[in-house]
Amino acid sequence: MAFAHFSTIVLVTLGAYQIVNAALTKRVTCASGHITANAACCALFPIVDLLQEQLFDGAECGEQAHSALRLAFHDAIGLSVHGGNGGGADGSILAFNSTELQYHANGGIDDIIADQFPVFLQTNLSAGDFVHLAAAVGTANCPGSPRLEFKFGRPPPKAPAPDLTVPESTDTVTTILARFADAGFSPRETVALLSSHSVAAADVVDVTIPGTPFDSTPDTFDTQVFLEVLLKGKLFPGNGSQPGEVLSPLAGEMRLQSDFAISQDPRTACIWQAMVDNQLLMQIAFKAAMAKLKTLGQPSNLIDCSDVIPVPAPFKTAIKYPASFSKEDVQIACHLLPFPSIATVAGPAPTVPPVP
Ligand code: HEM
Ligand SMILES: *[C@@H]1O[C@H](CO)[C@@H](O)[C@H](O)[C@H]1NC(C)=O
Ligand SMILES: *[C@@H]1O[C@H](CO)[C@@H](O)[C@H](O)[C@H]1NC(C)=O
Ligand SMILES: *[C@@H]1O[C@H](CO)[C@@H](O)[C@H](O)[C@H]1NC(C)=O
Repeated sequence: MAFAHFSTIVLVTLGAYQIVNAALTKRVTCASGHITANAACCALFPIVDLLQEQLFDGAECGEQAHSALRLAFHDAIGLSVHGGNGGGADGSILAFNSTELQYHANGGIDDIIADQFPVFLQTNLSAGDFVHLAAAVGTANCPGSPRLEFKFGRPPPKAPAPDLTVPESTDTVTTILARFADAGFSPRETVALLSSHSVAAADVVDVTIPGTPFDSTPDTFDTQVFLEVLLKGKLFPGNGSQPGEVLSPLAGEMRLQSDFAISQDPRTACIWQAMVDNQLLMQIAFKAAMAKLKTLGQPSNLIDCSDVIPVPAPFKTAIKYPASFSKEDVQIACHLLPFPSIATVAGPAPTVPPVP
C-alpha cells in the first residue's frame, strides 16, 4: 500500500518533469528528418554517415575507431593551464601533421592522419571539430562506451602544439600525473581517461607484433583492461622486452609500463581498482573527463550537438577472468576497497588475437 502510493507519486512527478523538460528543450527537425537541439547541428548528420562509411568500415569498433580516440587525446593534451603549450582540442595534429608527427610520442599516429585527411577535406569542418567529432563517433561504435558529448564550432588551429606534451609509456607516474595536472586533469580524471585503453592496441611499442591489444576484448568498451593490467605478468608477447612495456599475463596481449605503474601507485591504485567490473562508474567518469578533454582551450560558446552522436550498444554482462586466472593472480594495490568477486572463463589460458 505504502509502496503503491510512493510509486504513484514517483510516476506523477516523473511525468511532470518530462513535460517541463520537453517544453524547455527546443527541438529542430532537419531537412534530413533528424531531430536535434540546434539547427546548426543538422549539417553534422551527413558527416557522421560519411565517417561511418569512409573511416569506420560501416560503424565498426576497429583499428580506425581506436586510433580516432587516441588522436583526439594526442591533439587535445597539447595545452597547459599555465599557457604557452599549444591550443588544446584544436585539431592542430591534423592540420599541422608534418610537424606534430615528428614527435616521438606520436608514433603510429601517421596511419589515422592519412585515413582522416581525405575525409576531412570532404567536410567543411574545422580540423578541431573534425578530429573530435570522429573520436566521439568512432568510440560510439564500441559496445559499452558512454555516448560522448560533441560540441561544435572550434576555430581553425593557429599553430602546432609543441613537442613533449603527450605522455609516454616510459614515463614515471609522477611525470604523467604532473603533465595531466598541467593540462587541468586530476589523478581521478587521468585514470578515467585511461578507460580508453579498453579499446586499444599497440603498433609501434613492439613493431614485430602490430595490433597487439591491451586487453582481451579490444572491440568492447568494458572494464576488462582494469582487471587484466592487475594480473601477474609472465611473458612478453613479441620480440622480448621493449621500452615502455612490462610483462603481460596473456599471450598476444601487451601491457604498457605506464598502465601497470598507475594501477600500483598509491595515488591512483584505488581509483584504478574501483573501475574493475564497475561499468557504470567507468562510463560516467570517462564521459565527463572526455567532455573536458575534447573542449580544452576552446571557446565557451560552442554549440552542443551531442545528439548527432550514435547511441552505443550496451555492455551489461559482468566481466570475467580470462581462462585459468583467478583472484590469486591479482596484484592488489588498493587495500581500502574490497576486490570484486569475478567468475573465470572456462578452458585453457587464451592467446589474444591481434586487432586486424
Ligand atoms: C598515461 C597516459 C598515456 C600513455 C603513456 C599512453 C600510451 C599509449 C601507447 C604507447 C599506445 C600504443 C601506441 C602504439 O604502439 O601504436 C597507446 C594506444 C592508445 N591510447 Fe594511450 N596512452 C595514454 C593515455 C591515453 C588517453 C588519455 C587516451 C584517450 C583518451 C588514450 C587512447 C589510446 C588508444 C585508443 C590507443 C589505441 C590506438 C589504436 O589501437 O590504434 N591513451 N597509448
Ligand atoms: C598533412 O597535412 C597536409 C596539409 O597541411 C596535407 O596536405 C597532407 O595530406 C597531410 N598528411 C597526411 C598524411 O594526411
Ligand atoms: C561545404 O561548403 C561548400 C561551399 O560553401 C558547399 O558547396 C558544400 O555543400 C559543403 N559541404 C558540406 C559537406 O557541407
Ligand atoms: C628484436 O629485438 C632485438 C633486441 O632488442 C633487436 O636487436 C632486433 O632487431 C629485434 N628484431 C626485430 C625483428 O625487430
